[in-house]
Amino acid sequence: MLGVTGSIAVYKAADLTSRLVKAGYIVDVVMTEAAQEFVQPLTFQALTHRPVVTEMFNLHSEMAVEHIALAERADVLLIAPATANIIAKLRYGFADDMLSCTALATRAPIVIAPAMNNGMYENPVTQENIAVLKERGVTFVGPGEGYLACGTVGRGRLTEIMDIFDAVKIALGRKGDLMGKRIVVTAGGTEEPIDPVRCITNRSSGKMGYALAEAARDRGAEVHLIAGPGSLRTPYGVRFTAVRTANDMFAAVQAATRDCHAVLMAAAVSDYRVAEVAKQKIKKSASSLSLELAKNPDILASLTGDFIKIGFAAESQDLLANAQMKLQAKGLHMIVANDISRAGSGFGGDTNEATLLFPDGRREALPLMTKERLAHIILDRTTDLY
Ligand code: CTP
Repeated sequence: MLGVTGSIAVYKAADLTSRLVKAGYIVDVVMTEAAQEFVQPLTFQALTHRPVVTEMFNLHSEMAVEHIALAERADVLLIAPATANIIAKLRYGFADDMLSCTALATRAPIVIAPAMNNGMYENPVTQENIAVLKERGVTFVGPGEGYLACGTVGRGRLTEIMDIFDAVKIALGRKGDLMGKRIVVTAGGTEEPIDPVRCITNRSSGKMGYALAEAARDRGAEVHLIAGPGSLRTPYGVRFTAVRTANDMFAAVQAATRDCHAVLMAAAVSDYRVAEVAKQKIKKSASSLSLELAKNPDILASLTGDFIKIGFAAESQDLLANAQMKLQAKGLHMIVANDISRAGSGFGGDTNEATLLFPDGRREALPLMTKERLAHIILDRTTDLY
């Protein structure tokens, strides 16, 4: 259920609704009277293909007397944008319109994305209302900082739509099969400096690792994502450590895995680093240039502990033989092998075609699928391993 209240940020709620619907969620929208001053219910009706609930006492509406049914059938109640007024009403248990009634009656988790003027947000009474609701288990996502519609700059703007989307997924995953599990995921390529300007890196986009981190989070896990430089959005609700070199990643993974249940090493780690990094920019005066490379530690092979170790092998030839060797050499519980020379399976794309290999000789060849889908299958197998 999406509760929409009277803020100029209502138009962003329309974008959010569209994304939720596209992702397969069934969205019932409840609008307060003030929200309807900004946007017509028709906007949400067109996006959700469902009636929008606007009034409590409209006898012509089949949903009018249904606020308890609405509250009962919700898996999560999201209020976005949420004004200071609805937050205050929820804190004190008011039930004078359809949204506050539903919020009071529901047993589903409640997620609130506030949007208001910074003075209203910073007011001790609003802060107290938020603190009390948090104590009762309500999740708050945002608000963000920046330019506000009232012309000031400060804290109070509706946070990023994708963060709100993620907060909904986290709320829905509270009873997921990875609840209570601490999972470390690495993603992306590493960067080895040559001089202050140049570096050696690889073509990994980080998409597979990020998909794994998000999927594990959505299934209730506590996720620590350790990632090399890249352009992907930092997922909301995961612990995030940004690293640059293989040695940085080595240190971060060593520390993170002291207390974890599983590690999923999707990162493309540089096997070598420049032995001596030039302090100043190297000039092009010489006719040729050689760089001496020193070997980096093998992060995955070095990890010991009572946790599940899952590796990845991206190969351009002898896929399964190479993957099998890595599975054994690194003492893994599973390796995900993919042939980067195949269409749809290379670096940077949104799809992958992988074979899973296990120490007992089992192999599972998977068809081409999205990295998101593959992430869930890898996590299914990870839970089987527990
Ligand atoms: N890996 C690692 N530390 C490294 C290199 C790789 O932890 N220094 C991990 C990767 O994250 C991946 C697995 O080991 O999960 C296999 O990585 P890959 O690059 O395919 O294999 P390498 O062991 O580096 O062997 P090669 O480059 O010779 O194929």
